[in-house]
Amino acid sequence: MLIDQSQSLQNVAVVGLGKIGLTLAAVFANNGYKVVGADINKEVVTSVNQGKSHVNNEPGLDQLVLHAHKNNTLSATSVTTEAVAHSDIIVVIVPVLVDDQNNVDYQFIDSAVHDIAKGIKKGSLVIFETTLPPGDTKNRFGKKIEELSGLSMEKDFHLAYSPERVYSNRILEDLQNYPKVVGGLNRQSLELASNFYKRALDCNLIEVSSLETAEFSKVAECVYRDVNIALANELAVFAEEKGVNMAEVITASNSQPYSHLHSPGIGVGGHCIPIYPYFFIDKGLDQGLTPMSRQINDNMANYAVSKIEKEIGSLENENVLILGLSYRENVKEPTKSTSLLLIDQLKNKKANLLINDPLFTDSEIQKYGANPLSLEDSFVSEIDVVILQAFHQEYSHLDFSKFSKCKLVLDGRNKLNEHEISQLGIKYKGIGN
Ligand SMILES: NC(=O)c1ccc[n+]([C@@H]2O[C@H](COP(=O)([O-])OP(=O)(O)OC[C@H]3O[C@@H](n4cnc5c(N)ncnc54)[C@H](O)[C@@H]3O)[C@@H](O)[C@H]2O)c1
Repeated sequence: MLIDQSQSLQNVAVVGLGKIGLTLAAVFANNGYKVVGADINKEVVTSVNQGKSHVNNEPGLDQLVLHAHKNNTLSATSVTTEAVAHSDIIVVIVPVLVDDQNNVDYQFIDSAVHDIAKGIKKGSLVIFETTLPPGDTKNRFGKKIEELSGLSMEKDFHLAYSPERVYSNRILEDLQNYPKVVGGLNRQSLELASNFYKRALDCNLIEVSSLETAEFSKVAECVYRDVNIALANELAVFAEEKGVNMAEVITASNSQPYSHLHSPGIGVGGHCIPIYPYFFIDKGLDQGLTPMSRQINDNMANYAVSKIEKEIGSLENENVLILGLSYRENVKEPTKSTSLLLIDQLKNKKANLLINDPLFTDSEIQKYGANPLSLEDSFVSEIDVVILQAFHQEYSHLDFSKFSKCKLVLDGRNKLNEHEISQLGIKYKGIGN
C-alpha cells in the first residue's frame, strides 16, 4: 500500500553526513522530523551522537545539532541499512566524483545505494540530492534498488531528485533563501517530495516535469559557472598581454546590466565546478564551450607558474610557499584544489615547496607531498615566492614584512593589499594585472 499522506512521513534517514548531509539532517530534525543520519565515517557518527557537529565554519550548525540531539530528534549510525529500514523518507547526499582520467566515479554512492536497497521498505520515498549525470536517479539507482530489494519503482517506492545548490559557509542561509528544485518519477513522487521540503525546509519550490530536468538543471548551473570563469580567465590573460587592468575592466563593463563578467583567478577547484561539467562531457557534450572551459581553467595554474618564472627566472631550489591547500577560502576541502595542480607544476620545476593552510594538520598537508609551514615559523624569512591560492580569513592581515627575502607575491585571487606588499620592495602580481 503506497503512502499518500505526507504528514504521516515522520522518520527520515539522511545518507551521508558530510558538510551538506549533516546540515540537512540538523534542519529536518529541528523542523518536526525524527532523523537518523548514516555515514561510513565512524568519527562523524560518534560526534553527531554526542550532539557535536564535525563541520567547521558553518554558522548556526553547532547549535542546531546540539538542539536536535537534546530533543532526541537527531542520531547517527554507520549501518545505513538499519537507518533506512526505520525510515519513510531517505535523502541521499553521498558524493559522485571523477577519477584521475575524469571518468565519473560512483564508488561511494553505489555502495550507499546498495545499503539503501537492502533496507528499504514498501511505501518509502527516496530523494537523491547528490549532483548526478542526468538519467542516473532512475536508470542507475532506481533500477539498482528495484533489483536488490525486489520492490518496484512505480508500484512500491517513490523516487525524486532535488539538487543541492548551497554554498559552504552559508548553507543554512542558502537552504532558506534558494528555491528548492524538485523533480519526481511521477506525479505522486513529486508531490510527496515537494510536501516534505515545504515542511522540512520551509522554502519556496520549483517543481519541474521530470527527474532528468532537475538533474540537468544542477549540472547546467555548474557548467554556466565554469564557462563564465573561463571567459574571465581568458580575458584576464589577454588584458595582461595588452597592459590593461582586468579589475578595472570588470567594474566598467559590469556597469551595463547585460554584462556579468566573473572574477579571474588561479583556477577552479572543489567537488562541484571542476567535476560536474564531465557529467555532460561524459554523456556526449564533448565539444565546444563545456570541455574547452575545463581546459582554460585548469591551465591557469600553469599560467601562474610561467608568470612567476618570467619575473624571477628559474624556480629550481627556490622556496615557494602556497597559501591555502583548500580549493577556496575558509573551507577545508582539498578536492580538485588548484593547489594540487600547482604542486605538480612546482615539483617539475624543482622548487622547494611549502604549504600553509590553517584548516589542515601538518600530516594532512604532508600527504600531498609538500612541507607544511606555520606563518609563525622563522623560516618565513627564507621564502622566495608566495602564491595565494585560497584567501582564508587568516590571510587578510598577513604581515609580509616577515617575508624579508621574498621577491614576488603571486596573488591568485586578487585579494591581497598590492600597495602594502609593493612598499616592502616585494613584487606583486595578480591575475589580470
Ligand atoms: N559541499 C558543497 O559546497 C556542495 C554544494 C552543493 C552540492 N553539493 C552536493 O553534496 C554532495 C555532498 O557534499 P558534501 O560537501 O557534504 O561532501 P562531504 O565530502 O563533506 O561528505 C560526504 C559524506 O558522505 C559519506 N559517505 C561516503 N560514502 C558513504 C556511504 N557509502 N554511505 C554513507 N555515507 C557515505 C562520507 O563519509 C562523508 O561524510 C556533493 O557531492 C554534491 O553533490 C555539495
